[in-house]
Amino acid sequence: MTALSVNINKFALVRNARGADMPNIISISEKCLQYGADGITVHPRPDERHAKFSDLSPLQELVSKYQNKEFNIEGYPSENFIEKVINVKPHQVTLVPDPPGALTSSFGWDCEKNKNFLSDVIKEFHNNQIRVSVFVNPSKETLENLDIIATDRVELYTYEYAHNYLANKSEAIKSYIEVSQFIKNEFPKIEFNAGHDLNLENLEYFLRSIKNIKEVSIGHALICDTFEFGLEKTIKKYLDISSKL
Ligand code: PXP
Repeated sequence: MTALSVNINKFALVRNARGADMPNIISISEKCLQYGADGITVHPRPDERHAKFSDLSPLQELVSKYQNKEFNIEGYPSENFIEKVINVKPHQVTLVPDPPGALTSSFGWDCEKNKNFLSDVIKEFHNNQIRVSVFVNPSKETLENLDIIATDRVELYTYEYAHNYLANKSEAIKSYIEVSQFIKNEFPKIEFNAGHDLNLENLEYFLRSIKNIKEVSIGHALICDTFEFGLEKTIKKYLDISSKL
C-alpha cells in the first residue's frame, strides 16, 4: 500500500487571494483525512504565498489526533525553515532545493555537491526525531553518496515521468526504474516517496512499475479534480437557493 498525502498548498493559495480564512485549510485537511487520505503535506515557501508558517502548528495538531496519519512539511532548509519545522515536529520533512520565488519545485538535489550541507541538516532533524526525505531527480549520478547524507527516504521528482507519460509511458518510466533499482541495490535501507504532477491518469502505472513506494504527495491535480468531480453537487446547492427565490 502506498500512502496518499494530500498537498493542500493550492487551497491555501485560494485562501490567501482574499486575505481572510476561506477556505479554512484546517477544515479542508480534516475532511481529506476523514475521507481516507493518509496524510497532509504543505510546502511553506519564503514568500508564504501558499501555506504560511503559522499554518504549521494547527495542522500538526489536527493530524496528530489521527492514528497512522502523517504530517509532511516540504521546503528549502533555510535557517528559518529548519527552526519552524523543529518547533512543530511533523512526522516527516521533505527537503527541496528550490530557490526563493520558485513557481514550483522544478529539480531535485545534487546530493554530491550538497553532501555536507544535507548531512548537517538531516542530523539536526534526526536529533529532533523527524524523518527526512530528500527530493531527487531520476538520475543516479547525483545520488552516489546517499549513505553519507543519511536520509531516511528519497522523494522521486516525477515531473519528467508525468510529462512524457502520454507520448510513451514505458520510455517515461525508464529512468525511474533505473534509479530506484540503483538505490535499492546500493542503499537498501532508504525508502521511496514520489511526487509532482502525478494524477488520476498516470499514478497507477507509476506505482505498478516501481514497487514499494511508501508515499505519494499530490496537490495540483487532486485539487483540480475536486473542481470537476465536486462541481455538480456545489452548483446544485446554489441552485437550491437561487432557483426558488
Ligand atoms: N513534491 C514536492 C517536493 C513539491 O514541491 C510538490 C508541489 O508543491 C509536490 C510534490 C506535489 O506536486 P503536485 O502539486 O504537482 O501534485
